[in-house]
Amino acid sequence: MQELKPNVYSIRAIDWDRRLFDELIPLPEGTTYNAYLVEGSEKIALLDTVDPTKMDILLGSLTASGIDRIDYVVSHHAEQDHSGSIPVILARYPNAKVVTNARCKSMLIDLLHLDEERFLTVQDGQTLSLGNKTLQFFETPWVHWPETMVTYLAQDKILFSCDFFGSHLAASGLYVEDEPMAFESAKRYYAEIMMPFRSIIKKNLEKVGKLQIEMIAPSHGPIHDRPGYIMDAYRDWVSDNVKNEVVLAYVSMHESTKKMVEHFSKALIQRGIVVRQFNLVVTDLGRLAIALVDAATIVLGSPTVLTGAHPKAAYAAFVANALRPKARFASIVGSFGWGGKMVEQLAGLLTNLKVEVLPPVIAKGQPKDEDFLALDMLADQILAKHREIGIA
Ligand code: FEO
Repeated sequence: MQELKPNVYSIRAIDWDRRLFDELIPLPEGTTYNAYLVEGSEKIALLDTVDPTKMDILLGSLTASGIDRIDYVVSHHAEQDHSGSIPVILARYPNAKVVTNARCKSMLIDLLHLDEERFLTVQDGQTLSLGNKTLQFFETPWVHWPETMVTYLAQDKILFSCDFFGSHLAASGLYVEDEPMAFESAKRYYAEIMMPFRSIIKKNLEKVGKLQIEMIAPSHGPIHDRPGYIMDAYRDWVSDNVKNEVVLAYVSMHESTKKMVEHFSKALIQRGIVVRQFNLVVTDLGRLAIALVDAATIVLGSPTVLTGAHPKAAYAAFVANALRPKARFASIVGSFGWGGKMVEQLAGLLTNLKVEVLPPVIAKGQPKDEDFLALDMLADQILAKHREIGIA
């Protein structure tokens, strides 16, 4: 256990080796599961637990610190990387109550088969006295799942935020040491799990922004002891502002689509547009997600396979559609041999996006001069659209 403030402790399980979360999200920097212990003059609260794979670290820390009583286990989020060790904590501390909102309670009962009598249900804004320290709970839905909430410890001006403001970043330091790296990891995490709920995250941000916060203690990654920078970053990410950037995600089989993408990429760069180019065969899904946070335009590149889109392009379209980025424009480039419905398939996978679709450029076989000319015209059109909205 490491002390953040008098009688407020971090209990961290660092997972240096984990490389995938939810069997989907790449974790290039590993992760941490952060629980916190708040010792008031009368009651002791544990805030979240850790992933069950690291349960021994949590139990060992509590034992080593001589914690023989826990009165409350605050559960901010039912996902098992934070809740999964609650059953063993309840078994070890038989008088402990799980403190959470009604929705999270219901999900914890479903996921962990907890006994209903072990719960203390709290409302939005409700406080819980630990004696000389008071916890206040705020519902912040969709900072991953619909039940998520945060806790504010007014005496120490700490916000315990769970996934909100978190990052999958394994590091030995308790606090953010490398701000650009922490920024990148936090942006990746926002893009992967919170971006689809941008408008709700914005409201949550306004809600917690009214609190006096000196420290944000998330349940993944380092603690923000300069919370201003991460709150400002979130404000930018959830805003309607897009940047003069094109995400160009493609796959190519026999170089036709690749030649088009390379030409198109150069044409955009020549027009002063930032290009984020991703070969979907090798790209890290998280890097693509990060790029989708800011880009004004998304362009997918695909050959035609078995009469439709290449499955890797379809996967990228499916992911982009699920993440609901704030892009304003989209298009498709690619190639075909004898026909097919590649464009219709990809466009049909992007229905969640509120974008203006710009005319696609599709070559038959190897691209010819007229195809390259059409790509130049698409680049012109993107520049014109970016100028129209005042970003170029
Ligand atoms: Fe870290 Fe949504 O759990």
